[in-house]
Amino acid sequence: MASILKVENLNSYIGQYTILQGVDIEVKKGEAIAILGRNGAGKSTLLKTIMGLVNTRSGSILLGEDSLVGIPTYDIANKGIGYVPEDYGVFDYLTIAENLKLAIRNDTKDGDDRIAKVYDIFPDLRKASERMARTLSGGQRQMLSISRALVNDNKIILIDEPSKGLAPVVIETLAVALKEISKESTILLVEQNFSLACAIASRYYIINEGRTVVNGKIEDLIQDTQLQATHLGI
Ligand SMILES: Nc1ncnc2c1ncn2[C@@H]1O[C@H](COP(=O)(O)OP(=O)(O)O)[C@@H](O)[C@H]1O
Ligand SMILES: [Mg+2]
Repeated sequence: MASILKVENLNSYIGQYTILQGVDIEVKKGEAIAILGRNGAGKSTLLKTIMGLVNTRSGSILLGEDSLVGIPTYDIANKGIGYVPEDYGVFDYLTIAENLKLAIRNDTKDGDDRIAKVYDIFPDLRKASERMARTLSGGQRQMLSISRALVNDNKIILIDEPSKGLAPVVIETLAVALKEISKESTILLVEQNFSLACAIASRYYIINEGRTVVNGKIEDLIQDTQLQATHLGI
């Protein structure tokens, strides 16, 4: 299967600090991959580096055959990457419907159909479509943020800790939706919530101190309590 995203020996930095120092990941078409690791390991920085929000010092990031290194974030998104940041990235003073419409890129021809599909996945958003984003619950905001990545035909969607700060019952709803989304999309999911990651992903990479240290099948990691204790603190 063709690789959608391939990251090799990636080093990146913020100011004088080197954050990533040797990250290798590969995501193939149709896969859902989990990025795991302790707080501060570099998971969010990996997604930001892919999006050009954090500077690459060395190594490569390929989307298909295209190198993403040194390209502005806007152009990276236009190449077909959906990014769902940790802090939602929705417009507070626009309605749900307006947030979705605004997310549609110029090259997306079937935007209205895609919005209708998003509302099927998240019926809560359809019901509240005329409400301003700032009045939504955390769960609804997360759903809206994910939906903004779904209104375009992206090659891959990067999602940063969708479960963060949400109640268990909301996380369950989100898990069902993400599972549904993963049937049609290629997903790179950063998660601290191990059971959510296990519900969605087939393979994983563990990042520790800015390096990918272990990877494999999620089903093997579920059996390996030693590995979980060492790298995830479970
Ligand atoms: N703006 C920044 N300036 C300096 N260091 C940062 C900055 N953002 C993140 N870091 C550091 O980079 C490391 C990785 O952070 P992050 O990628 O957010 O971790 P994770 O998402 O795995 O919890 C942490 O040690 C963090 O302190
Ligand atoms: Mg993070």
